[in-house]
Amino acid sequence: ERQIFVTRHGQSTDNLEDRIGGDASLTPLGMKFANALERFVGEQRKSFAIELTRSKYEQEQKWEAYGLDSLDLTNDASMDGGKKYVDDVINSKVKALCSSQFTVWTSMLRRSTETAANFAPDEYDIKHVRYLNEINSGDRERMTYDEIKEQYPEEFKARQKNKLYYRYPGMGGESYIDVIHRLQSLVIELERMTQSCLIITHRVVLRIILGYLLDWSREEMPHMLVPLHTVYELRPKPYGSQLKKWKYNE
Ligand code: F6P
Repeated sequence: ERQIFVTRHGQSTDNLEDRIGGDASLTPLGMKFANALERFVGEQRKSFAIELTRSKYEQEQKWEAYGLDSLDLTNDASMDGGKKYVDDVINSKVKALCSSQFTVWTSMLRRSTETAANFAPDEYDIKHVRYLNEINSGDRERMTYDEIKEQYPEEFKARQKNKLYYRYPGMGGESYIDVIHRLQSLVIELERMTQSCLIITHRVVLRIILGYLLDWSREEMPHMLVPLHTVYELRPKPYGSQLKKWKYNE
């Protein structure tokens, strides 16, 4: 069992002005989110470890109820001081689970690396990777949707009509389909890996990653509502993933 956390970066100065793309830094509110995120993930990691350890322990007790051999743990629990011993074992298992490898992936863009700045490198394996960068909007980088609508009405309409295939004009401009392709190896790795992780990324990339994990169609992905300061927690199960959504309240 493992946890996959996915979120967008904290609020950036470009978000305040509704500018797309770019490489802006976090606002003070964005930094607050970044602080809270580190504490939140640390807490969730710990309560997940407790949950796992306890459910394993309860299962072991069930075996005993049926007269099967139980682990030393349950036998010792019935002796004097046994309760303390059980708690010690659980605590040490929780500690071990909490110190197991946990990767924090971010894009290479400032707003995303700054959101990960509070994660201690001795507790987390931190990786900044280009393929988590936001969709490249080519010649329209750092424009607002209103400016595009006014200056390039045909382009604006074309994107609204087919957001999935529309590719931004200019050097490096991408479409959702392009981003889906560049994320393929990450998605394969996510499915294969057994450790828990956190991905700090951007609106388009988040939609695609969530879309894959939750089995959404490509056509649905570009229209998913994925606000800032929201953390998605997925627990992959044999058939599909269990999803929880957490909203940061300032
Ligand atoms: O506004 C933030 C942002 O991440 C932009 O950088 C990006 O172009 C946009 O969202 C993507 O959202 P949509 O595909 O809905 O335009």
